[in-house]
Amino acid sequence: MPTIRNIAVSAILALFECAYAQDTVGFGPAFSLGPVSSSSWIREAVTTLELPEVPSPAADRLALWPGMGTSGGDLVQALAVSFADPDANCGATTGQWCTWASTLKDEQLGGTQVPASAGDQLTMHYKYNDSTGKYDQTVAINDSIVSSLSTEVGEAQGWGTAVECQDSACKSSVPAHKYLSTKIILDSADESFGDTLVLTDATSSGLTTSDGGITWAVTTINIDAHTFDV
Ligand SMILES: *[C@@H]1O[C@H](CO)[C@@H](O)[C@H](O)[C@H]1NC(C)=O
Ligand SMILES: *[C@@H]1O[C@H](CO)[C@@H](O)[C@H](O)[C@H]1NC(C)=O
Repeated sequence: MPTIRNIAVSAILALFECAYAQDTVGFGPAFSLGPVSSSSWIREAVTTLELPEVPSPAADRLALWPGMGTSGGDLVQALAVSFADPDANCGATTGQWCTWASTLKDEQLGGTQVPASAGDQLTMHYKYNDSTGKYDQTVAINDSIVSSLSTEVGEAQGWGTAVECQDSACKSSVPAHKYLSTKIILDSADESFGDTLVLTDATSSGLTTSDGGITWAVTTINIDAHTFDV
C-alpha cells in the first residue's frame, strides 16, 4: 500500500489541473500518516493551520494543505493558496492568502474562496457523515466557518500536510508554519497507526493516543521554512 504521501502525490499531481493546467509541481516539507490498517479508516480529522506570511515572491501558485487520501483515489484537501494576483482569485489584497474547502475528485471541487491573513487560525475539519456517506468539510477562520463542502470519496486512509508549489511558485520561499491541535479519529482502533508517521523537514510535539489507537492527537506540528528550486 502506498503511504499518504504517495497517495497524495499521485492524486494531487492534478491539483488545479482543470482550472490552470500547470506544467511544474513540487512538494516541500510534510507530516504524513497512513495508510491506516485495512480494517479501519479515518472518520474525522481536524487541525488548525496558523497561517504564515505569503511566500516570497508571491507567484502562481503555492498551496498549504492538510489532506486525506481516500479509498476512492480522491483527496480531501482544504487549501490555503498564495497567488500572484490574490484579488482576481478571491478578492484578497496583496500579502493575503485565499482559503477554501476543497476535494480533488477527477476535478478540483471547492466551496467559497475567501481571503485570509498571516496570523489567522484556519481550522480545517473533515468528518464522515453516516447519513450521506460523504465527508463534510469546513474551513473556519478564528472559529468562524467561512467555507464548506461535502463530497463522496470512499473512506479516508491517511492524513498528511503538504507544501505544494506549481509553476512560477516553484522558485519561491515559503516561511515556516505550524499546525495546532491536530486530532485524527479512526473508525476502529489501529495501534500501529503511529508507526506510519513520516516527517520530512518537519517536527512534532509527539503523536499520542489515549484510547488504544482510535483517537490520535498531536499538539504541534512544525513545518520548516522551504525554498523551492524545481
Ligand atoms: C484571528 O486571530 C489572530 C490571532 O489572535 C489575529 O491576529 C487575526 O487578526 C484574527 N483574524 C481575524 C480575521 O479576525
Ligand atoms: C449529515 O448531512 C446532512 C445533509 O447535509 C446534514 O443535514 C446533517 O446535519 C449531517 N449530519 C451530521 C451529524 O453532521
